[in-house]
Amino acid sequence: MNDAPTTTPPKRLHVITWGCQMNVYDSARMADVLAPLGYAPSPDAGDADMVILNTCHIRDRATEKVFSELGRLRLLKLAREQAGGRMILAVAGCVAQAEGEQILARAPFVDIVLGPQTYHGLPEMVARASRAAGAVIDTEFPTEDKFDHLPDAAAPQGLTAFLTIQEGCDKFCAFCVVPYTRGAEHSRPQAAVLAEARRLVAQGSREITLLGQNVNAWHGAGADGAPSSLGRLVRALAEIPDLWRIRYMTSHPRDMDDDLIAAHGEVARLMPFLHLPVQSGSDRVLAAMNRRHTAADYLRIVERLRAARPDLALSTDVIVGHPGESRADFAATLALVRQAGFAQAFSFKYSARPGTPAAAAPGQVDEAEKDARLQELQALLREQQTAFNRSCVGLTVPVLFTGPGRHPGQVAGRSPWLHPVHVTGPAMLIGTETPVKIVAGHTNSLTATLPQQERACA
Ligand code: SAH
Ligand code: SF4
Ligand code: F3S
Repeated sequence: MNDAPTTTPPKRLHVITWGCQMNVYDSARMADVLAPLGYAPSPDAGDADMVILNTCHIRDRATEKVFSELGRLRLLKLAREQAGGRMILAVAGCVAQAEGEQILARAPFVDIVLGPQTYHGLPEMVARASRAAGAVIDTEFPTEDKFDHLPDAAAPQGLTAFLTIQEGCDKFCAFCVVPYTRGAEHSRPQAAVLAEARRLVAQGSREITLLGQNVNAWHGAGADGAPSSLGRLVRALAEIPDLWRIRYMTSHPRDMDDDLIAAHGEVARLMPFLHLPVQSGSDRVLAAMNRRHTAADYLRIVERLRAARPDLALSTDVIVGHPGESRADFAATLALVRQAGFAQAFSFKYSARPGTPAAAAPGQVDEAEKDARLQELQALLREQQTAFNRSCVGLTVPVLFTGPGRHPGQVAGRSPWLHPVHVTGPAMLIGTETPVKIVAGHTNSLTATLPQQERACA
């Protein structure tokens, strides 16, 4: 038949995301906000009608990557224009917030610069950018809650999902840009969080990771309207049928309160894995960092968490070479790492961020010295990670299977401790939480067998 409906072809949206999981979440929300305008996700920047760079400002290298990507996109945008088309180029996220004006000065071909608090205004910005010559910039911290402006319909995230419950940070660690790029701490109300969690579960998600730059400082309005706490929110979420697994990140040691620690022992659905950044093991450096806890405070929290949930595994963030860090301070960090015992960790060389107090502090550490400390620390952390993964061998643990494995006939999933787990087994396992026996622990993953396979071999 010749009378096929005449629909406008979808516009192609390509999003590149750097930085933390909150940026991953925000990228998905920006795609949701643009869907009603006819934008559908595209894996390719070359033929995209709109490209969004969702950027991170946490360390030097993160910022440099944005400018090198912009150089590449300028050529694609030019080629598009020469072919009679148009590519709208937007820079979002924390670099946009911190360096909006500089981006437009260095890359005048950018059409839209938007801060992390303004993405609900994207449709209007796109409309303005399509009409106007000249760039649109919005890096305000609006007083209204951007989450109130999100469309109800959102693309499903799959079996494992992220849900932002808190944003911004009031801690002002001396080295960190986040309080400047994400603004003051803000918690979403419990009712909004529960509604979004129920929607995710209805769309098929079985594991939800609650996100926030300082997630355990969450103090959104509870059921009675009064400020609540993360421990209580976790308990409320655990009542949702078919939400099997709950996680949260990233936490600050100062906000690990009694109720949240108790929840780790009492709520089976709260997974036994916690990312709790320590940054340093030296009290002198912790004070210079304005972390407002000591090494002993941190170790006490770890001890109490493990008393509540003996199988809890920890991960952390560590910075080496913070201004003022001596060799003895670094040795204290190694000692804390040995004492706490981490299943996983992220470690970074201190990177001076413009406008933060540490950038102007005396005692900046030489780059070569930072490199040496990082290598020494990473060797220890690798050793601990491998030891932890090997200690899982022989255990039978529930794995949430999320997709096909690397090799044909394999399925892959996640352990309670967030390891990727590979099993030879049928695709029908995907979407189930199934107990499997761990038979090998590698550096970054585990191999397991199904109980039936064991019987067959016996
Ligand atoms: N909100 C989280 C983490 C934010 S950023 C927290 O409070 O811990 C993620 C990690 O990046 C930090 O934990 C820190 O280890 C690292 N980081 C932040 N600023 C840094 C800087 N200027 N140089 C090097 N690493 C940094
Ligand atoms: Fe940055 Fe510190 Fe806030 Fe974490 S707690 S986001 S490190 S200022
Ligand atoms: Fe980066 Fe901003 Fe997240 S600086 S780590 S994207 S909060």
